[in-house]
Amino acid sequence: TPAKPDPAGLLAWYDRHRRRLPWRAGPGERADPYRVWLSEIMLQQTTVVAAGPYFLKFLDRFPDVRALAAAPLDDVLRLWAGLGYYARARNLHACAKAVVERHGGMFPDSEDALLDLPGIGAYTAAAISAIAFDRRATVVDGNVERVVTRLYAIEDELPRAKAIIKKYAEPLTPSNRPGDFAQAMMDLGATICTPKKPACTLCPWIDPCEARKLGLQETFPRKAAK
Ligand code: ADE
Repeated sequence: TPAKPDPAGLLAWYDRHRRRLPWRAGPGERADPYRVWLSEIMLQQTTVVAAGPYFLKFLDRFPDVRALAAAPLDDVLRLWAGLGYYARARNLHACAKAVVERHGGMFPDSEDALLDLPGIGAYTAAAISAIAFDRRATVVDGNVERVVTRLYAIEDELPRAKAIIKKYAEPLTPSNRPGDFAQAMMDLGATICTPKKPACTLCPWIDPCEARKLGLQETFPRKAAK
């Protein structure tokens, strides 16, 4: 049994068990950077289930970044109604305009160039670079934090532990299929490595998981007392 978590094992699991989500490309299909960006912005404040209908509504009304950039802000805000955090919708519109004006309507592929765009922070830049362009970028959201802190039994408490978690996650990221790897980590956290009663017997990384060895899965990630 391997002592180290093997990215290939997780990718094989993902090929069998990946969630079908409206913004995902099918197996072997190329992801559309516009769809990846739009979904990641929506998912920052909303569950996968709640975001689905909004994503489809946006795609129907604004099929590409040029259509979104050309729309009046009020139309965007109206379609966003119900998702909350309206600064996000304003930034969404500003970002669409910036992509058209600065990049000729094509999303840039590097994390650095993506970070320069309105409303795109470290998480979103990494997610777009990896998922839309299959560039090696490490994507750490709440699900990934749970997977990584359990794998390595990281005792440091959130939110301080974020930088440490990223340090552990970076060398795990393969240069082969980094976009699928990022989504596999999210799916593993959402469906197997859940906050309560994780389904460890179904996990491709049961052998290297330090928290499992200790029987302390549910105690990670550690959190600072409020
Ligand atoms: N949560 C945020 N981004 C996600 C993605 N691309 N797939 C699944 N869950 C997500």
